[in-house]
Amino acid sequence: MSQIVVTGSTSLNGSVTVSGSKNSALPILAASIMIDETIVLNNVPELRDIFTMLSILQRIGRKVSFSGNTVRIEPGEIVVGNIPYELIGKMRASFNLLGPLAVRCGWAKVGKPGGCNIGQRPVDYHLRGLRKLGFRISEQHGDVIAVSPGSFDDFVHYRLPYPSVGATEQLMTVASLMKGSKVVIENAAREPEVCDLQGFLNGSGADVRGAGTSVIEVVGKDALHGTEYRVIPDRVEAGTYLFAGLATLGEVTVKSVIPEHLAVPIKIMSEIGGIVDISEDSVHIEVSSPLKAVKVSSEPFPGFPTDLQPLLTVTLSTARGESVVEEGVFENRFGYVDELNRMGADVKVCNRKAFIKGVSGLSGAEIKAPDIRATAALIVAGLIAEGETIIHEAGHIFRGYERIQAKLNDLGAVIKVFPDEDG
Ligand code: EPZ
Repeated sequence: MSQIVVTGSTSLNGSVTVSGSKNSALPILAASIMIDETIVLNNVPELRDIFTMLSILQRIGRKVSFSGNTVRIEPGEIVVGNIPYELIGKMRASFNLLGPLAVRCGWAKVGKPGGCNIGQRPVDYHLRGLRKLGFRISEQHGDVIAVSPGSFDDFVHYRLPYPSVGATEQLMTVASLMKGSKVVIENAAREPEVCDLQGFLNGSGADVRGAGTSVIEVVGKDALHGTEYRVIPDRVEAGTYLFAGLATLGEVTVKSVIPEHLAVPIKIMSEIGGIVDISEDSVHIEVSSPLKAVKVSSEPFPGFPTDLQPLLTVTLSTARGESVVEEGVFENRFGYVDELNRMGADVKVCNRKAFIKGVSGLSGAEIKAPDIRATAALIVAGLIAEGETIIHEAGHIFRGYERIQAKLNDLGAVIKVFPDEDG
């Protein structure tokens, strides 16, 4: 995997334009398999996970192209209803093709995703929900097989045990094509990406309401039509650069964002010592005083997003006082802390809580990165640290941050990337 070398003692200064949301584009691309007309998707980030999803769509029979952040999907006979584990293993979000494939083709077989570095990541909420919708679900040799009942109940009510983003997205997508059925999903996830998926589905002729609240209602149609749609900006990328500006005591403006998608992270950044100015589609941060300790728990939207938890912890590692960061969504999302402590931080993790004692500074070291957001956080730690930091197994970063080396270097960083054979 790639190595990233970060030059330390760097304050970031300048502005950066945020790309389209990976976590919005992926469920939209999964939903596209239900539509037999041309789809044009704009503002799609050029990321490995996007290309993984596009290669799966091609394998199923779709003709796809990617140019200038626009994806074009032409209809084509779906030639296969199964997605092998080797592709699911590369990107868990492809599991969201199970339901759309089954409702479109009558059946589907998809490798059951395994865990990853941030947790077990089961799919039981997806499967329970699909069964409630009427699908026959079975598991064989590590695959999940879903068979459509052909006709659906007039009314289905399902309460999710937890506001799972992926399960909400999979169920609202499938329900869109359950002709003659009204489906009510309670305890739905409220993330902006769920709202974006609703926008795409309705642009294709679906009837989905309530996204952004805990109750989503869908009236199933017998067919959806082609459409052109623009993906929302990536709030996690935006929050990453704002935290990087705060952590390095710099001054950063993120452009092409939707500020209300960042309301809680901005509030926390202000409590830590950031001065934040918000305009219609940009957010500016600079630092007023030494960074201060806070206590934060990550939660489902609209709470503090789990995907920014590593960035928050790194920012607090040199804040004055003792902070506590609780991971309220995943069971194992502090895997990067041991590496951060090797750079001189003082963080103790107990169960899902990180107890952070602010230190006067960090020092560069050779470290390794466990996942997308942790890699971004360790790059920020490298910017703060004195000396050079070498991050091994850093290839995760290219799954979630478009042109991150260029964007950070434009902000004054000195980041070098050494891709190896498998990148
Ligand atoms: C989405 O993952 C995002 N990924 C994640 O971003 C994000 O961290 C997460 O939502 C939470 O916001 C995409 O959108 C592609 P969940 P998802 O289902 O849908 C448990 C990134 O870095 N759970 O809301 O998989 C699960 O284990 C990624 O961009 C079950 O137990 O998240 C977790 O503890 C990381 N059973 C919690 O629910 C299920 O069937 C939330 O998971 C499903 C989930």
